This record gives sequence, C-alpha cells and structure tokens, in this order.
Amino acid sequence: MTPSLGKAVRHEWALDADFLSVNHGSFGATPRVVLAAQRDWQQRLEAQPSRFMRAVLPEALRHAADRLGAFIGADGKDIGFVDNATTGCNAVLRSLRLKPDDQVVVLTHGYGAVRNTVRYLCERVGARMVEASVPFPRPDPDAIVTNIAAALTPRTKLAVVDHITSGSALVLPLQRIVAACHAADVPVLVDGAHGPAQVPLDMHALGADWYAGNCHKWLCAPKGSAFLYARPDRQDDLHPVTISHGLGKGFLEEFDWSGTRDPSAWLATAVAIDFHARLGGETLMARNIALAADATSLLVRRLDTEPGTTGAMAGCMGMVRLPLAGAATVERSSDLRARLLGAGTDAPTHVHEGAIWLRLSAAAYNDIEDYQRLADIVVKLLAE
Ligand SMILES: Cc1ncc(COP(=O)(O)O)c(C=O)c1O
Repeated sequence: MTPSLGKAVRHEWALDADFLSVNHGSFGATPRVVLAAQRDWQQRLEAQPSRFMRAVLPEALRHAADRLGAFIGADGKDIGFVDNATTGCNAVLRSLRLKPDDQVVVLTHGYGAVRNTVRYLCERVGARMVEASVPFPRPDPDAIVTNIAAALTPRTKLAVVDHITSGSALVLPLQRIVAACHAADVPVLVDGAHGPAQVPLDMHALGADWYAGNCHKWLCAPKGSAFLYARPDRQDDLHPVTISHGLGKGFLEEFDWSGTRDPSAWLATAVAIDFHARLGGETLMARNIALAADATSLLVRRLDTEPGTTGAMAGCMGMVRLPLAGAATVERSSDLRARLLGAGTDAPTHVHEGAIWLRLSAAAYNDIEDYQRLADIVVKLLAE
C-alpha cells in the first residue's frame, strides 16, 4: 500500500478519531484545505455581496466549470452546477415531456430517490416506469446490458442508469449500456452520484446524453457541489429544477442562476481537484479500489461469507453478505445499522435476495487496519 496515504494523511480531514469512518460513500468527507477555500469564497462574497454576485460570480463559476470539465473529460460550457445528483437527475427528468403510455427505463438497483422521481412523473401523465433487472450477488455485465436492451421499446423515452449503484456498490458497464440504448434510439441519463473520483471519467468518450455527478462524495468537495453535464445537442429544452431569470436564454444562463444562494461549494471544487491530484489522482482511485477489494476479502474471511462482486464491477466500495440466520427484513437491516452506529462506526446495510449485505468504503484516509476494526465490531454484533 502507498505509505503516504491512510493514517499518514488522516490529519488532512477533521474526522473524529473516536469514530471509525469506513462509509465515505454516503456523504464523502471534506478536507480542511477545501473547507478553508470554501470559507475564503464566503468571505469574499460577504465583503461585497452585490458586487460579488454581479461582477465576480459569473466568471468564477465558469472558471470552476472549466476546471471540473478538465477533470471529467468535458467542456466547461456543457456543465451546469447543481446542489446534488438528485437535483441534477430531477432537472433532466422534469424537463422531459412525457405523454400517456410513454416508458422510462430504470434499474432494479436504481437509487430510490431517482426512481421515486421517475415514478412520480410517470404517474402524473399515465406513462410507465419499466424496470431492468440487475442480478446480485455475482452480477454479470453481459446480463445487465442484455436486460436493459430487452427493456427498451419504441415507446421508451429515456433510460436512467446508475454509474455505480448505491445499495450494491456495482460499477456498471456504462459504455456498453450507453451504446445499447443509443442503438435503440433511446437517450441515457446517467445517475453518476458516485462516479467522480471513484473511477476516472471521460464524458466525451462516454457519449451519454446527460450525466449527473456529485463532487461532494469521492472528490471530497464541500457538500452541495454537484454538476449536470449535458451533451451539446441535449441542452435545448433542459431546465433546472428552479426556473429563474434565465428561462429560454440557453443552458448556461438557466443553470448559472437559479436564485440567490451560497455558491462557495462549487467555487471551492477546483481546490478539491488539486487536493485529489496531490494525493495521486488516478493512482489514488486505483489504490482505493484495491483497498476496497482487500477490505472486502478480509471481512469475507472473518465472517466466513461471500462478497457481492469482485473484479471489473468493483469500485472503491465493497459488499459483504452478513451470515445471519432467520429472515432478512428491512427492519432487521435498519436495526443492525443502528447498532453499528452505537458501536462507533457506520456502514449502510441493504437487503438483497433474502440476505442482509453490508457496504464498506475505502477512501484516501483509510488503511486495512480500519477494516480489521470493522470486522471486530461486526463479529461482536452478530454474536450478540
Ligand atoms: C446512485 C445514487 N444516486 C443518487 C444519490 C443521491 O446523492 P445526493 O444525495 O448527493 O443527491 C446517491 C447517494 O448515495 C446515489 O448513490
């Protein structure tokens, strides 16, 4: 393992030393240097609020988008900032003009909030949400692509595909999924909440129609830093969730201003990109993926159980089946998570195929020792 990571860099974050942080995936964690940059922007704003909003912000926002564009393989002009991936997905979904009997394809492992949005919009007009199944555990990329392709019909208006699933931590074969949807003339909205800085991104090469990504998870930007990438030919008739003065004036006019708010999380994102590069950039991502694999194997051995996936579909998060006798209910899963919190750590627990699964995350500040501690806690909890 790279010696300059893990414990050696933990001081860069304000993490509580008494709490075992192995759930970076849920809300990220922002390093001190990035928080300081955010505070600097806030101070600049508050020194001259009206001048800042009129004369500094427009250019600063575009500069931030250019920096982010270089990181995700996109042009800054195709990036609008949003508060979070949920909002980015909502912007695309609410801009759709769905008609009765239209169909929108989602995944069985799709993120609940985004699936809710699709369901809500479909129910309002009598359209249909169609589910493509993601097999789990031991997912098969071919089967996922096949299931999505099989769900597409001439009535399909959109496919909503997660880049990395939340409740099962699977890195989906996105390039192949986008190609299959485009072959059927169906545009693709990628829910990339977990993508940026968990895996390398290249919007130009991917060719997806829209990609909503969070910078506040794996890139460690401040909370509220997220983006919506829209391919140039997919920017017409795309509107932010909050309609404001820019309506009808083009993608950037619409997204760059949706009412007064604190833009400091977006403006500090360039410092998060620099910080990520300082810790290794792509080398850091590969290191975290390897650490998640080692951590998953460690828990699998200690608990005498199985992993959710290995190999190409595994990212910086791992899934471990908890070896529990009896029914795997949502209540039991929630109770286990509450007990993990009580024991000084946190890891999401999810029910899949009659079993409860635990998700672990591997971030720059984690070492393999963290998962030895996690295994100790889980073994004790399961014995109780
Ligand atoms: C796949 C997926 N989509 C959307 C979200 C929501 O992210 P946010 O709360 O930042 O909108 C998450 C959060 O974990 C996620 O995993």
